[in-house]
Amino acid sequence: MQENQRVCSLLDAIEATTARVGVVGLGYVGLPFAVEKGKVGFKVLGFDRNALRVEKVNQGQNFIGDVKDEDLASLVGQGLLSATTDMSRLAEMDVIVIAVPTPLTKNLNPDLQYIEAVTRDIAHYLRPGQLISLESTTYPGTTDEIMKPILEGSGLLVGRDVFLAHSPERVDPGNARYTTKNTNKVVGASDPASREVAVAFYRKTIQHVVVVSSAAAAELTKVFENTFRAVNIALVNELTMLCDRMGLSVWEVLDAAFSKPFGIMPFYPGPGVGGHCIPLDPHYLEWKAREYNFNTRFIALAGEINRHMPEFVVEKAMRLLSHRGKGMKGSRVLALGVAYKRDIDDPRESPAGEVIRLFAKHQAEVVYHDPHVAHFTELGLDLHSQPLTGEEIRRADLVVVLTDHVAVDYALVAREATEILDTRNVFKRVDAPKSNIVML
Ligand SMILES: NC(=O)c1ccc[n+]([C@@H]2O[C@H](COP(=O)([O-])OP(=O)(O)OC[C@H]3O[C@@H](n4cnc5c(N)ncnc54)[C@H](O)[C@@H]3O)[C@@H](O)[C@H]2O)c1
Repeated sequence: MQENQRVCSLLDAIEATTARVGVVGLGYVGLPFAVEKGKVGFKVLGFDRNALRVEKVNQGQNFIGDVKDEDLASLVGQGLLSATTDMSRLAEMDVIVIAVPTPLTKNLNPDLQYIEAVTRDIAHYLRPGQLISLESTTYPGTTDEIMKPILEGSGLLVGRDVFLAHSPERVDPGNARYTTKNTNKVVGASDPASREVAVAFYRKTIQHVVVVSSAAAAELTKVFENTFRAVNIALVNELTMLCDRMGLSVWEVLDAAFSKPFGIMPFYPGPGVGGHCIPLDPHYLEWKAREYNFNTRFIALAGEINRHMPEFVVEKAMRLLSHRGKGMKGSRVLALGVAYKRDIDDPRESPAGEVIRLFAKHQAEVVYHDPHVAHFTELGLDLHSQPLTGEEIRRADLVVVLTDHVAVDYALVAREATEILDTRNVFKRVDAPKSNIVML
């Protein structure tokens, strides 16, 4: 079959939603994606190494906050969504979307082992006419320099026999306004045929697709977006530390600055950055830039400032305790919120881990409460969420707000706490006397 016939039959199958869609990696990105594609009528098969996740999907049980339980159950019931650990079934798919982790090694270098493993599996079962799209966040060059040679090792050529694209996922967990469906989607591929089928596939479910000329341009777009956030968060975090020395409230200054209707956009300080994206992705770009003998100085500086924030929080807590004649050693600290951001259950890379570790290093007794994270195991910790009772709050020498979850009774905390260090300005929303509250 000629290249244009392959393109045409895949385009027809996409248009008719008869194309079989495989999603490899059923996590925070892959499961919502699989559900979205199922909702428009594609028959979706999820692939995951994790047999428990696969079993849950097949039982119609949801495990990702952004997915509605009833959506998942209904798709599984209709036979539009199922899952497997059997990678040989990749051969049945017309479109394969990859959403596996892209962590860093201990030395902050990209760790592509998951992408490489999946690509080898796909290459093993590759057949003409398949579209493979990488959604994992990674440095520019991964799709063309790492994946393409592995796929072509099968004897099939990208752009002629099979199609390869990059379309970075932008999902913002916990964001009810912007979901996978209504967030503009960037799609890039380095040959025209791959670009055409990838764009057609994404246009089928996403309201607005932004097409770029290569996979590398799409990869760079995503790492730039997260670098932009990391740098701006670092800027307000630095201002926070300066304001602390100057005796000014950074929150007052930021509120005033963000009242300007143009030329500025809001970013807020906090105990550091967390999650699978902001602390990691900029380092993918930093690493790749070295290949071009280029130093990404903003990335290095932002990383340094943001990584310092847990230390700043603990140092400020130490000052508060010592003003009351207390040492860190033996003081009881109640950390409120350990997820890396508001209203989600994801504790990965959360700065709360480092804050709690530092409190423990200074021999404080740390307990935590998080309505969404029952068990916290970051950085080797092994803590369980404590019920938020008046007694628990009164027992603490200091309450430190690390994540501003909505489902916390802050009025109770304000009423019962001896002293509170609020790193998120959450008490702004609470109508209570504030003499025991200190802002970051
Ligand atoms: N979480 C987010 O908010 C977010 C947002 C945008 C982009 N991303 C990017 O998306 C990618 C996936 O992130 P995530 O948060 O969904 O990860 P996750 O850890 O929640 O899910 C990844 C899944 O992939 C599975 N997996 C790993 N290797 C596999 C293999 N070889 N074969 C089959 N399954 C395998 C894991 O078992 C896991 O279930 C990352 O590159 C991340 O940077 C994440």
